[in-house]
Amino acid sequence: MNLTIHPAKELFGTARVPGDKSISHRAAMFASLAEGESRVRNFLPGGDCLATLGVLRALGVTIDQPSSTELRIDGVGLHGWQEPVAALDCVNSGTTLRLMAGLLAGQSFFSILDGSSQLTRRPMARIVEPLRQMGATIHGRQDGRLAPLAIRGNALGGIDYTLPVASAQVKSAILLAGLYSNGLAIVREPAPTRDHTERMLTAMGAQVGKLGQVIASERPRRPLLPLDLTVPGDISSAAFVLAAGLLAPGGHITLEGVGVNPTRTGILDILQAMGADLRIENLREEAGEPVADIIVTGMGSASRGDAASRRGGVTPPLPPLHGVEIGGDLIPRAIDEFPVIAVLATQARGRTVVRDAAELRVKETDRIATVVAELRTLGARIEERPDGFVIEGPTELHSAPVSSHGDHRLAMALTVAGLAAAGPVLVEDTACIADSFPGFERMLRSLGAELTENE
Ligand code: S3P
Repeated sequence: MNLTIHPAKELFGTARVPGDKSISHRAAMFASLAEGESRVRNFLPGGDCLATLGVLRALGVTIDQPSSTELRIDGVGLHGWQEPVAALDCVNSGTTLRLMAGLLAGQSFFSILDGSSQLTRRPMARIVEPLRQMGATIHGRQDGRLAPLAIRGNALGGIDYTLPVASAQVKSAILLAGLYSNGLAIVREPAPTRDHTERMLTAMGAQVGKLGQVIASERPRRPLLPLDLTVPGDISSAAFVLAAGLLAPGGHITLEGVGVNPTRTGILDILQAMGADLRIENLREEAGEPVADIIVTGMGSASRGDAASRRGGVTPPLPPLHGVEIGGDLIPRAIDEFPVIAVLATQARGRTVVRDAAELRVKETDRIATVVAELRTLGARIEERPDGFVIEGPTELHSAPVSSHGDHRLAMALTVAGLAAAGPVLVEDTACIADSFPGFERMLRSLGAELTENE
């Protein structure tokens, strides 16, 4: 599927983005290990989280889905999963594969974690190494550097592990294996990463301790309590809609019920540093996670201004967005948002530098290479660096065909670029948007964007 995006005029309205992907995965996995029935509302019915449900069902868990966003999960207890009869298909989902590896390492059966050609290219040594140090028996291609991974579950010991990269997936894999280990599983992170695993396990009665950037888990003394939870809106999905709203001249968008866990709000800090007109209201806590409404006012983009003047309209002023330098601890707090940050930077005045972000190279695509290549096709002045990119703005983005490379976040970032461009932009290969944001196109249309789908 392809999408043609027409330059946006104003985007107006109130919307709710789908449930948080990271929290949805964890809710389904952990609920399956509780004793009793869990209820999850606003579950993300995206491809990645559906892969998690498929894996859990293959382990013998009964999951009712009265609607696409509601789950009733019959928890089987920490030792209630059954040996699967076939390889577990994680499709494109790195979170499914890496977190499940931690949980499967301590079971009393054999399992294989497999996935798409996109997933089996991604690095797995980062989880295999610490899990092996805990005593896990894991085999995989290239000595466990790549999936599929074959896991012969067995007794695990404790670990005191300093993460070589700031990764919530690796931290979680170790903490989850810690639920099955005979000693403490201690993880030291180089910078804070999303802490949904710790929050949810604590809410379920597990002993997960945290002291600064040192986190520890252990074998729970009692069964995990079932969940009754409404998943907050995904700030990583909200980022695309907020960016679209900011680049459209004069519009106004309110996103209700967005998760604003401080380990995830790097994007809000970056938008504010760029001078965006952004308000956070109605801050509250739901099921152990902070949630708020986020409101943006459109500032227009350089390319829109030029387009308006060519049509004889009134040229909006250059956007007040300006370039920023982004690095250090901010990177993991905004790790999934860099494709859209790059788009915003093309419309901001001055230079934007992203550094310390080499992790972007091992996401669904090498997001440094793919973002640079595709934005350049649209006319952006963007240079690749080993650990990030440098963008000089503002530049008028022009009409051209671009490709998502099968990467959901690149597909959505290019859609936002299309809204800010001077002419229509064709984004090829957009079915992947449903991996994390089913209904993205519909939501943008409801706010006033013009998008056409072509097979
Ligand atoms: C995730 C952690 C991040 C993020 C991914 C989801 C999670 O990955 O990019 O989209 O749910 O724990 P890393 O742990 O590889 O940084």
